[in-house]
Amino acid sequence: MDKLEIHGGIPLTGEIRIAGAKNSALPIMASTLLTKDTVKVSNLPHLYDITTMLELLGCMGVESIVGEKLGVEICSEPIKHFNAPYELVKTMRASILVLGPMLAHYGQAQVALPGGCAIGSRPVNLHLTALKKMGADIVVENGYIEAKINGRLKGAHIFMDLVTVTGTENVMMAASLADGVTIIENAAREPEVVDLARCLRAMGAEIKGEGSDTITINGVKRLHGCEYSVMPDRIETGTYLIAVAATRGKIKVKDTRPSILEAVLSKLEEAGAQIEIGEDWISLDMKGKRPQAVSLTTAPYPAFPTDMQAQFTALNAVAEGSGTITETVFENRFMHVHEMIRMGADMKVEGNTVMVNGKQSLKGAPVMATDLRASASLIIAGLVAESQTTVDRIYHIDRGYECIEEKLQLLGAKIKRLPS
Ligand code: EPU
Repeated sequence: MDKLEIHGGIPLTGEIRIAGAKNSALPIMASTLLTKDTVKVSNLPHLYDITTMLELLGCMGVESIVGEKLGVEICSEPIKHFNAPYELVKTMRASILVLGPMLAHYGQAQVALPGGCAIGSRPVNLHLTALKKMGADIVVENGYIEAKINGRLKGAHIFMDLVTVTGTENVMMAASLADGVTIIENAAREPEVVDLARCLRAMGAEIKGEGSDTITINGVKRLHGCEYSVMPDRIETGTYLIAVAATRGKIKVKDTRPSILEAVLSKLEEAGAQIEIGEDWISLDMKGKRPQAVSLTTAPYPAFPTDMQAQFTALNAVAEGSGTITETVFENRFMHVHEMIRMGADMKVEGNTVMVNGKQSLKGAPVMATDLRASASLIIAGLVAESQTTVDRIYHIDRGYECIEEKLQLLGAKIKRLPS
């Protein structure tokens, strides 16, 4: 297994470009199952999860041509199988996103039931309840979700008990080809849901209200091909800003979208960063100062994102003062804390809160990544630590951060990949 070796203590400075958003690209790729025409998706990030989604579509018979400029042409016309196998679902839970489109378009789907993962139990009951309400016949047997519908799905009034991002996306895709109107209440407002709605609209779907907690979809008979460019990755953007703030550096992040990062930018300002924004860029300057500790609570968009919690924990570890970080979205998202303690951090988990007393610096150590964002936070910890840190199991990071060591090297970091 590859590792990353980091020699920390260098203030990061420079400019980088942000890739397309993983969590937007995945549902958009799944949505190509809703049409027999070709869909051209561009600005795809170069990531493991994107390859896994292409592999998943491929094993159902979908044809895709990977182009030069981070683009792919996907055509589901030759689909032969309606099965998302466990081997792929276990490596990427977002495989569940093929359930809604396959059911709506082909009347059947067999998708391996995703298990728990390092950040929580992560059930998909709300996806299934909503699709059942739309008339689907669903049973879970032998580890598989077996779904079918005789004819077309029916529009329905759906209230989501909890805000679920992929749940909202699955239902929105299924409803696009259903008979009649579907209203999703307590829908996720995440920018990735909005990006998917825009792509579906470009395919001919009739959707209103995306970005609010009530989304209305008027089902249409067929969807057609389109060209769509994936929005920038707000979590990748935030991760680099935090890495630079923690190391007291200066950065300009390009090809991003500041308007979808308000909660994160305001916490960075509270931490002492000087921030300027343009339409598609953000600059951050710590003026060489140590960050101030911040307190925050994660919640669905537009509140502070759970996918940025671990990175802020790393920032607090070397900040001036104390901060508390409360996680309300996932029940087990503090695995990074125990690794940071091994690097000399002063932090303690109590229930769903971690209390952090900032230290002047951390000490390099061998640490192990447990999930995608935890890995990012350990890299940040390594970048601020004295001496050498090695981060093991970095296959997690390759699922969600494009060329992370090259981008950090561009900012002056001493980081290299140690192949296994
Ligand atoms: N939940 C249920 N039942 C359901 C669905 C969700 O109880 O049927 C619970 C979950 O267990 C969790 C909460 O609801 O406690 C929210 O989960 P959600 O469904 O919103 O998460 P997700 O759709 O599986 C997406 C992102 C995650 C991100 C979360 C929250 C994708 C592919 N994944 O997951 O991204 O953390 O929303 O914003 O969009 C990541 O990129 O590292 C990542 C984990």
